[in-house]
Amino acid sequence: MMSRTPDSAEGLSSAVRAALAKVIDPELRRPITELGMVKSVDVDASGNVNVEIYLTIAGCPKKSEITERVANAVADVPGTGAVQVGLDVMSDEQRTELRKKLRGDAREPVIPFAQPGSLTRVYAVASGKGGVGKSTVTVNLAAAMAARGLSVGVLDADIHGHSIPRMMGTTDRPTQVESMILPPIAHDVKVISIAQFTQGNTPVIWRGPMLHRALQQFLADVYWGDLDVLLLDLPPGTGDVAISVAQLIPNAEILVVTTPQLAAAEVAERAGSITLQTRQRVVGVVENMSWLALPDGSKLPVFGEGGGRQVAERLSRAIGAEVPLLGQVPLDPALVAAGDAGTPIVLSAPDSPVSKELVGIADGLSSRRRGLAGMPLGLDPTRR
Ligand SMILES: Nc1ncnc2c1ncn2[C@@H]1O[C@H](COP(=O)(O)OP(=O)(O)O)[C@@H](O)[C@H]1O
Ligand SMILES: [Mg+2]
Repeated sequence: MMSRTPDSAEGLSSAVRAALAKVIDPELRRPITELGMVKSVDVDASGNVNVEIYLTIAGCPKKSEITERVANAVADVPGTGAVQVGLDVMSDEQRTELRKKLRGDAREPVIPFAQPGSLTRVYAVASGKGGVGKSTVTVNLAAAMAARGLSVGVLDADIHGHSIPRMMGTTDRPTQVESMILPPIAHDVKVISIAQFTQGNTPVIWRGPMLHRALQQFLADVYWGDLDVLLLDLPPGTGDVAISVAQLIPNAEILVVTTPQLAAAEVAERAGSITLQTRQRVVGVVENMSWLALPDGSKLPVFGEGGGRQVAERLSRAIGAEVPLLGQVPLDPALVAAGDAGTPIVLSAPDSPVSKELVGIADGLSSRRRGLAGMPLGLDPTRR
């Protein structure tokens, strides 16, 4: 409702500041005014505006994006003449100030998701074996949830077999501000992976303690902001990382991915049943590669049938609480292409049957209320 052009330079200057308060930093996702990024606003008598912006670090990968956002926002203010955006870099003191503003003054970084009262739902996506579509399911659930307006993060915890950045189509590296790591954002999802810290396709050859440390850093040192959902793509099996996740974020819930093949289902069941020891909740089972739809409308069960149902039933029995089969995702070569192209299929082909199934699962997980479903009950009275 800016029908009247501010007639004085002063009026224009405050209108420009109001416009700047709507400019969101692409990495920190907060208004630049709140982040202390506006250094100065100068307006001359003819309405020409010069804005100086503080970048968090000198080599900020988003500097042209920030400049553009600022220039556009200012140009949209009625009455402005030429707009100039200058860049400066924060001092160490300013960065410390920013870090405190974002993360509080805690000396040791804490894992926000493990704090009492955290509202972030954490889903650890697990499978018995590799190649069942765990990462594919993870990126598509994340993209579908983000498209619904949720604030979503994905942590690629498959340190040795990382594939999330490629599937999300991002080669960005995280920006570091003091001890904070700012996750790259792809398809509106914050993404962290060891791949962003290695050169080329170098293999990571870490063992348990290093994996634990990496995971801890990804959880505590990464500035995730207020997430609605964090998805963790776990390595296959019941190894060190799954146990670390249980220790670092005990409230993480396990989402089991399996194929319909009964042999695969048995291994998946094992992955799910570590929750008997860790006392984590199993939120449900996703069956992937369930069938191939043939042109005549029939379904070819390429990998057999019943795996998802079997895992859900057996886990329900073992845990003593209902573990639902959340969905069955058909085979679709387009899913392979989407993964290689870096755009999740729920975004590139939202009307395909695969996408509809994945979006349905994402919606179920987004709206789910916390209850006792999938929670191991009273099996070990020595622990609470
Ligand atoms: N429903 C599906 N239809 C066709 N191909 C799929 C499907 N789900 C996954 N894939 C493909 O199978 C391969 C393994 O999937 P991926 O998500 O990497 O598995 P994981 O993370 O469990 O190792 C990938 O090439 C992926 O594109
Ligand atoms: Mg994977």
